[in-house]
Amino acid sequence: MSGRAVRSALLTGWAAAGMRGVAVLAVGAAGSGVPVLAAWAGKLLVDGLTVPGRDAAGLAWLAVGAALLGGAAAGSGHLTSYLAVWLRTRVGLHVEDRLYRAASRLRGLRALEDPAFQDRFRLAEQTAQHAPGACVSFLLTAIKAVLGSAGFLVLVLAVWPPMAVLLALAAVPQLLAQLGLARQFARTAEETMTARRSRFMYQGLQTELSGAAEHRLYGLGELFHARMTRAALEVSGADLRVQRKMALTQGGLALLGAVTLAGGSAVVVVRAARGELTAGDVVLFLSAVAGLQAAIHGVGSQLTEAAQAVRLFRHYVDVVDAPADLADGQGTPGPLVRGVEFRDVWFRYDPSGPWVLRGLNLTITAGQALGLAGVNGAGKSTLISLLCRLYDPERGEIRWDGVDIREYAIDGLRRRIGATFQDFMAYDLTVAENIGVGDVARLDDQRAIEHAAGLAGASAVIAGLRHGYRTLLSRIFFGETGDGRGVALSGGQRQRIALARSLMRDDADLLILDEPNSGLDAVSEHQIHEILRGHRSGRTSLLVSHRLSTLRDADRIVVLEGGQVLEEGTHTELVDAGGRYAELFALQAAGYAEAT
Ligand SMILES: Nc1ncnc2c1ncn2[C@@H]1O[C@H](COP(=O)(O)OP(=O)(O)OP(=O)(O)O)[C@@H](O)[C@H]1O
Ligand SMILES: [Mg+2]
Repeated sequence: MSGRAVRSALLTGWAAAGMRGVAVLAVGAAGSGVPVLAAWAGKLLVDGLTVPGRDAAGLAWLAVGAALLGGAAAGSGHLTSYLAVWLRTRVGLHVEDRLYRAASRLRGLRALEDPAFQDRFRLAEQTAQHAPGACVSFLLTAIKAVLGSAGFLVLVLAVWPPMAVLLALAAVPQLLAQLGLARQFARTAEETMTARRSRFMYQGLQTELSGAAEHRLYGLGELFHARMTRAALEVSGADLRVQRKMALTQGGLALLGAVTLAGGSAVVVVRAARGELTAGDVVLFLSAVAGLQAAIHGVGSQLTEAAQAVRLFRHYVDVVDAPADLADGQGTPGPLVRGVEFRDVWFRYDPSGPWVLRGLNLTITAGQALGLAGVNGAGKSTLISLLCRLYDPERGEIRWDGVDIREYAIDGLRRRIGATFQDFMAYDLTVAENIGVGDVARLDDQRAIEHAAGLAGASAVIAGLRHGYRTLLSRIFFGETGDGRGVALSGGQRQRIALARSLMRDDADLLILDEPNSGLDAVSEHQIHEILRGHRSGRTSLLVSHRLSTLRDADRIVVLEGGQVLEEGTHTELVDAGGRYAELFALQAAGYAEAT
């Protein structure tokens, strides 16, 4: 157990619960004296009953007192359990808050695409909540055990002192074994995290709406179910192996405890038979030894939990203390005056993988519409990701009016961009929110939302919805409008809503549209074209489309191939040049001609 992790877990507990956490400790500690008093009362009772001629009324009061003490001990146990739950809940909320803040501090996409990060994050999420609570519970149990055991120890010493040494000797292997178990529990959790995530993924594939149509059509239920079961068996097999080890270890330890107790009680009974000890002494001795053993056992099992939780807490510390994934700049980009320039940009997703952009040189001139064409995988969406600083280039730079975008604050840069990504989101939120999130500051600005919806050609669709802008776009949540569930939109309708979202930032300097019309019918595409052309005039835009007719009106068109610019010019220039663009355009035009 590393000291740093323990300290960090305790500090987290303090940050979450503060003085009230300490009060919980105090209450727990206060309850620890009760069992000793109860044991003492038991001894007096037995002694009183075995000595002839004792006061019956006094003994009856003693019996009542002992019974009440027993009740108080049980009651304080329940109270302490509740307080422990309270502490864990507080800490759980605190830990979740910090973890998700840390996740939202990640500005790029690399960490989220890293399986190791995903494993670490899930481990942190599932286990970190327990560490501070487990440390505190361990402390609580240890304090209770020390206070309680002190009393029991005095009792044992009073009857037969060597028993204390025997108990101490038996405690050492117990605590060591518990620490060993903690290590194994933690290792199992770490080693099975990928399988746990995979199990979760296959569970989702069988019950979630996205992908459900394909899953049914292709009859994938069996396949996903089998894979889920395989992952579940892997996880539960590992869990059971370590549980078995725990059962065997604890069984062995219980045996050791029984042997210790047997030795001690044999000695004490013999001495009582010889008249050196009273029968009450024997009862006292037995309950004190049982109390001590229970205390050691309690400390041991709490130690397993705490040590395991602290070991896993490292993952939480790693996530919340992780340095920023992308270095943030200081400056704030001004309105785009000259343009954005890619200068000899090299990029690949994986340090050992193939280059996606290979020395790309490209200028997006301010005030112009740049069309981007290229076959699948040419690097068009990658270029956009770099422009939004979701990744940084490995070599070369991207300049905003001549300044490397890495010198700007990421938020400031992104604030100047509106984008519809190729894999745009459809949120399970209302229509208004689905559009409004494009400019969070104006989430409630109905006029702005309606304006953006109008530009994206979504007004008519929204007007046809029962609750208009307040309609919930979800089939898996209930709407707040009082008549049950939300609604689903068609693919093209969703795309218009996403387009409207990117148009919320009507002051954005750069509008990026990556395949904004792939799902639109011909009439809608034409309408939106006209609207966007009006909206874009004088603004800078980057438009990616496989439908070359869409790019036709762009001021300049660039064809990407192999991570570089293959050719560029206006539509007419490129067609006249007879290169790749002309070839692709001819193919598409021929397709349309054949169809007519
Ligand atoms: N997140 C990612 N991680 C790893 N590789 C990626 C990732 N995204 C894209 N790639 C790879 O980078 C290359 C370029 O992909 P990109 O999405 O930029 O192409 P594109 O030109 O937008 O293609 P399309 O026309 O199909 O949208 C592809 O070979 C792809 O496999
Ligand atoms: Mg793409």
